[in-house]
Amino acid sequence: MSATELLRLENVERRFVLGGGLGGLLSGHRRVLHAVDGVSLTVAAGETFGIAGESGCGKSTLARLICRLDRPTAGTIRFDGQDIGQLDRRGLRRLYRDVQMVFQDPMASLNPRKTVGAILARPLRLQEGLRGAALAGRIERLLEEVDLRPGGEYAQRYPHELSGGEKQRVVIARAVALRPRLVVADEPVTSLDMSIRGKILTLMRELQARHGLSYVLITHDLRVLRIMSSRAAVMYLGLVMETGPTRALFARRLHPYTQALFAAEMVPDPDAARHTRGVLVTGEVASAINPAPACRFRERCPFRQARCDTVQPVPEEAAPGHWVACHRWREIAAAG
Ligand SMILES: Nc1ncnc2c1ncn2[C@@H]1O[C@H](COP(=O)(O)OP(=O)(O)OP(=O)(O)O)[C@@H](O)[C@H]1O
Ligand SMILES: [Mg+2]
Repeated sequence: MSATELLRLENVERRFVLGGGLGGLLSGHRRVLHAVDGVSLTVAAGETFGIAGESGCGKSTLARLICRLDRPTAGTIRFDGQDIGQLDRRGLRRLYRDVQMVFQDPMASLNPRKTVGAILARPLRLQEGLRGAALAGRIERLLEEVDLRPGGEYAQRYPHELSGGEKQRVVIARAVALRPRLVVADEPVTSLDMSIRGKILTLMRELQARHGLSYVLITHDLRVLRIMSSRAAVMYLGLVMETGPTRALFARRLHPYTQALFAAEMVPDPDAARHTRGVLVTGEVASAINPAPACRFRERCPFRQARCDTVQPVPEEAAPGHWVACHRWREIAAAG
């Protein structure tokens, strides 16, 4: 892993004011969803940083903020040292080249009325001014780079004429078309058959090695996290509960949420795991709407104590680069 820092998030927040109707407005009771609630992390050049967590914990919202498709309500995001909230038009244009997103639903992100060639042509025309034979040649090479051969033939097809894996290759080709430095991939293999997942992940690694790309890789699948990422963060209701080198996270899960999530994922029947461990099913699930100053995992936590109800834990560095936001991590670690 290169030590050069490419991306830095500092206390990034994204809050959504939810429609409380007229009643909510008159009573002055605003419902504010803390979708991303003070996330800090860094990504090095050439690295894959994984983000895991259950549905609704804020992963896609964070991805959109990093790609500047949305703006944080507080905090700063630096790409290559520059605050992306402060960029002028030229800076923004460059950012939209350097940082690309692979959206969560690949099928929906390909326009069904356009050929693969037309889909790939758009960014190349807009950003690089390519036309004619130069454009066609570039598209052909791009398709062959993601193993769609012959590229010239694939360029003429429509998305519905492609298999799921081929569509995802087109989505990846579009993401790397402008030679970005960072690709934020939101669940890039979740919608694919098991047999194809490995091939797409291999392709992503090849592209990374060839172009020195960095990835922020969002995934529900902890096996994908383990194979692909050098460091990772586990999110819960807008917060990073634990982050560190992926190997350390798997070897020494410190946060009760990480333990529960990993235990549920690592056995063939996730429901069985939840019931036997009794971790993820108990109590009312806390919400990221107007959250109390308390641990957000407390209702589901088997280690809950009085202070968990009144003080929100701040991340502590348990080992070099390994951070955990839990009042009781020391006791939990000691107990093994
Ligand atoms: N534009 C919006 N307005 C209001 N709430 C939103 C908006 N976008 C996202 N949310 C809410 O923010 C929370 C986080 O959503 P997000 O899509 O980031 O979760 P996620 O971790 O990507 O989930 P999944 O794993 O299901 O994709 C959810 O409660 C979601 O309903
Ligand atoms: Mg999502």
